[in-house]
Amino acid sequence: MYLTALKLVNYRNFDAVDFEFPGRKTAVCAENGAGKSNLLEAIYFLAIARSGRGSRDRDVVRWGAEYFSIEASVAYEDRPRSIRIAFDRRAGKKKALLDTTPLPRLASLVGTFNAVLFFPEDVDLVLRDPPQRRRLLDILVSQSKTSYLSDLDQYRRVLAQRNRLLKEERGRDVRNLAPWDVQLAALGARIIRDRLDALDAMRPEIDGYYRQISQGREQIGSAYRTPVKADERERGQEILESELKQRRADEADLGYTLVGPHRDNLIFTLDGRSAHKFASKGQLKSILLAWKLAEAAYLESHTGRFPVLLMDDVFAELDRRRSEAAMELVTSFGQVFITAAREPEVKFEDRGFQRVTI
Ligand SMILES: Nc1ncnc2c1ncn2[C@@H]1O[C@H](COP(=O)(O)OP(=O)(O)OP(=O)(O)O)[C@@H](O)[C@H]1O
Ligand SMILES: [Mg+2]
Repeated sequence: MYLTALKLVNYRNFDAVDFEFPGRKTAVCAENGAGKSNLLEAIYFLAIARSGRGSRDRDVVRWGAEYFSIEASVAYEDRPRSIRIAFDRRAGKKKALLDTTPLPRLASLVGTFNAVLFFPEDVDLVLRDPPQRRRLLDILVSQSKTSYLSDLDQYRRVLAQRNRLLKEERGRDVRNLAPWDVQLAALGARIIRDRLDALDAMRPEIDGYYRQISQGREQIGSAYRTPVKADERERGQEILESELKQRRADEADLGYTLVGPHRDNLIFTLDGRSAHKFASKGQLKSILLAWKLAEAAYLESHTGRFPVLLMDDVFAELDRRRSEAAMELVTSFGQVFITAAREPEVKFEDRGFQRVTI
């Protein structure tokens, strides 16, 4: 699956532009504020039907415009297809078309175009903030398992209702929690099992990619911290229910739920020490890069095709050896887009890249 052309209308700073991507390796080298990150965000929009930066649809519309549109030509193994996403600010409506057929729901687009996005802004945010690290796992699992997102949605609903009860009755013994506990534990156990399974499948890849990027300087470790032990994942519901019972008094004091996947943590270590506490900027960047490449490999093994790699400003802050290793790795996948504000030490042309100007 390859992106061969892209037409953007009123997307961020792009008024109306047509891009052609004849090769599998595309480099975009342009000054700060030129729209490099916006271009990658637009491509990723095709994969998840929303902004990968977490922006609202109306903030993506070019200032002063009424709508935006993203139109892509994608070459699949058997045939070319076109994907179009458009958002109308006045109507507040977003719609998607596949080969000119409107899709009944936007969600049905997900899975049509696979991509993995590396955004440098995510490095600090993601690796230093527990909820963002959990999001890494959520992005991963939701792309390979369709039931995961609905489990997650339901879990959040039950959690919000349970928290409301605890808050209303704060300081008192809440009697009618039992039905919530059962639902929370059942959904929570499924989410935890899926996350543990995905991380297990990813771990050898993460370790391998990190070793290559760091040239074996330090060893990465990754663990999912949860009350459910790795070898107990099939009994997760029981375990969560009993944890909930044990923490009942604390929950009544605090007025919110203390047990479940929303409290779990994804931990990275370098040579056994917490990365979020001790790792340097370049090391954190290497961790996120190793994760994203492992995500691409994981998606490939689940969908049978390489996702498009979108690598925004990946070389800044990496030393020469790490940059070279990163360049080597990202070009070993199917299709890759790399942006840079400055020419990297490793020349794009030497690696067979074609340039796009914006
Ligand atoms: N909705 C919008 N309408 C018009 N312009 C926008 C909109 N949202 C963002 N921009 C502008 O788009 C410009 C380009 O942003 P972008 O983040 O893509 O730059 P960049 O090329 O990645 O720069 P850097 O090298 O600093 O990362 C910014 O100057 C920003 O103000
Ligand atoms: Mg940028």
